[in-house]
Amino acid sequence: MTSEERMASHLASVVSGVGSFLPPRIIGNQDPPLSELDTTAEWIRSRTGIERRRWVDPGTSTGDLALRAGRGALRSAGDPVVDLVVLTTTTPDHHSPATAPWVAAQLGLGTVPAFDIAAACSGFTYGLAVADAWIISGAAQCVLVIAAETLSTITDPSDRGTAVVFADGAAAVVVRAGRSDEPGAIQGVLLGSDGTRQDLAVVNAGGSRRPDREGLADPADRCLRMLGPDMFAHAVRRMTEVSRQLLERLDWPVESLGAFIGHQANQRILDKVADLVGVPAASRFANIREVGNTSSASIPLVMRDLLDGEAVPCATRTLLTAFGGGAVWGAVALTWPDVKPSVEGHS
Ligand code: COA
Repeated sequence: MTSEERMASHLASVVSGVGSFLPPRIIGNQDPPLSELDTTAEWIRSRTGIERRRWVDPGTSTGDLALRAGRGALRSAGDPVVDLVVLTTTTPDHHSPATAPWVAAQLGLGTVPAFDIAAACSGFTYGLAVADAWIISGAAQCVLVIAAETLSTITDPSDRGTAVVFADGAAAVVVRAGRSDEPGAIQGVLLGSDGTRQDLAVVNAGGSRRPDREGLADPADRCLRMLGPDMFAHAVRRMTEVSRQLLERLDWPVESLGAFIGHQANQRILDKVADLVGVPAASRFANIREVGNTSSASIPLVMRDLLDGEAVPCATRTLLTAFGGGAVWGAVALTWPDVKPSVEGHS
């Protein structure tokens, strides 16, 4: 459906519930194991904007976090009948099977279709795009999109370029069929990828290209390696481009944006993108200082915080944008939802 047809039909996917869950263990910039690195709390704060982040305790999985966030989103939406569960993650519970069916079963959703999406830090924009497409096509009336990550399980604690940045957390939204003039209605989606830049952020060993059945791979190759400055430059370029393109397609002047939420990779990236796109200062929102880079969970975690504080008026024009390893990027435009987040799980 073109954007003109979408507007004419008034059919839209509407965000109708939000939940989240953060693991309780807080790691400050001065806490172990970060204190054992050749870095300083001040370097981390000034170069990334991060002051603390959450890491799971051993034994807690992505699915465990997803379950808590998903339950919160369902409660917040009034426990609707769900037709599809989509779980976005870089850190599934297993190589196989997917994590989403287990989460759906634990949530008591029976035999509902459920699958994972691997789109790294852009996962939430991809997840919303899939939910939107199912709803607009009539294949689903109500979709639970969960973004859940335990990046700490694939981070090398001795690598100062990644250990200080990555974090764990989960957030989820319920998206239901509705009308385009309702608060929370998705107005447009734009996604992209560049598979020639797999090297930007990669776990080298353990996949089918380089299996590690014997566990002989260098431990560093079993963890996420990132070309930080290159990633920085690509993130700024792609998030800026995709944001501008979507605003142009919708004919939304940037000054009309009341909320702009970028993937929480680095506060300096967020500032740069917002400056280049021309987002008004009052419309820029972030929580990276408190939670670090939680990959695909980062955007809905900000949404959750803003809904908690009633910081954004209902129906405000909102733009979400993300960039991640792959490379993959995306933007989603919506109006700010009229939702009370569930109180469960977020501290
Ligand atoms: N503490 C102290 N020094 C550090 C450091 C740390 N934690 N990490 C890197 N450095 C050093 C580097 O070794 C380098 O030293 P040199 O100049 O002597 O070679 C210097 O700081 C600058 O390194 P650089 O990698 O350019 O730092 P940076 O300012 O780019 O910050 C990141 C590093 C990882 C925080 C930053 O590159 C980043 O956020 N990248 C993008 C992440 C991203 O976009 N992710 C999106 C999807 S997940």
